[in-house]
Amino acid sequence: MVIQDFERIFQEKIDNEIKIEPKDWMPEAYRKTNIRQISQHAHSEVVGMLPEGNWISRAPSLKRKAILIAKVQDEAGHGLYLYSSAETLGTSRDEMINDLHSGKAKYSSIFNYPSLSWADMGAIGWLVDGAAILNQVMLCRTSYGPYARAMVRICKEESFHQRQGFETLLVLSKGTKEQKDMCQDAINRWWWPSLMMFGPKDSESTNSDQSMKWKIKRKTNDELRQQFVDMIAEQIKLLGMRLPDNKLQWNEERKHYDFGEINWDEFWNVVKGNGPCNKQRLAARNKAHEEGSWVRKAAKVYADKKLKHKKEKIA
Ligand code: 3HC
Repeated sequence: MVIQDFERIFQEKIDNEIKIEPKDWMPEAYRKTNIRQISQHAHSEVVGMLPEGNWISRAPSLKRKAILIAKVQDEAGHGLYLYSSAETLGTSRDEMINDLHSGKAKYSSIFNYPSLSWADMGAIGWLVDGAAILNQVMLCRTSYGPYARAMVRICKEESFHQRQGFETLLVLSKGTKEQKDMCQDAINRWWWPSLMMFGPKDSESTNSDQSMKWKIKRKTNDELRQQFVDMIAEQIKLLGMRLPDNKLQWNEERKHYDFGEINWDEFWNVVKGNGPCNKQRLAARNKAHEEGSWVRKAAKVYADKKLKHKKEKIA
């Protein structure tokens, strides 16, 4: 078979909604795009544990603490499924982790903002996980099999995360004046960064066109962002709070909410490593990696020992 035959078979699979699997032939650019996206996604899950981990010791009750611990553990699990999924494309966990720790790899801009109050745990669950899940539901149908399958379980857990976030804010929104103010303040601070999670405008998105053709992405950044605004603009009414956007208004003609302009300078500044917490986040990940080195060494010695015994038994 010549290369054109491989390309044709690959494209037919994509067109017919047949998943691409690790041992299938695939264009090098398809492999690289998936490694890029899946590893960035994995890094986002892992770095995403930090703003919430910060509040585990200060959760206001045992119940809230247990929920928060479970949620943070879920994020760690999501990171691991995703790293495993990227590994099926020929990269290694060490390479991906080194790229994160050196600052070479990207991860979601959202996790470079500080979590300043307990209400932030609610806002992160409702808005950040809410934005993440819209994007991730679409990824359950992505064309690369191991990524799509990893996303199914991740989405189930994310939907619990979103609901617990909303419920946390609902309780605060019915509380004292201080609690209501804290709730509104958290929404004010997390709203715009949540909209940035969907990535640059379609006209500025370098990867979208090709990723849509390969069905890695099924909806564009702007489509998902609009879906998110429409959903949150309705849900916030139940909280009796407001979104910090004077231009937010239902547009009867478009059947969507109009909303104000995102500060793209801020977005790119954060993506380039200059957000409020970028340096702190990378320092925390590097420290955790160094402190865990004895576990990795012990696990390797144990694995080598087991292998040696197995070989001795066969011999
Ligand atoms: N933060 C940081 N970088 C971002 C970004 C963001 N919010 N949005 C886009 N970018 C980067 C892209 O990675 C790309 O850079 P690269 O070419 O150097 O890799 C560049 O900006 C241009 O953007 P594109 O629109 O061309 O990029 P994509 O086609 O990859 O689309 C995406 C961006 C929609 C985020 C897509 O990569 C995606 O769907 N990724 C998988 C989901 C994901 O990673 N979500 C992150 C949040 S996960 C999470 O929040 C955990 C949860 O538990 C809360």
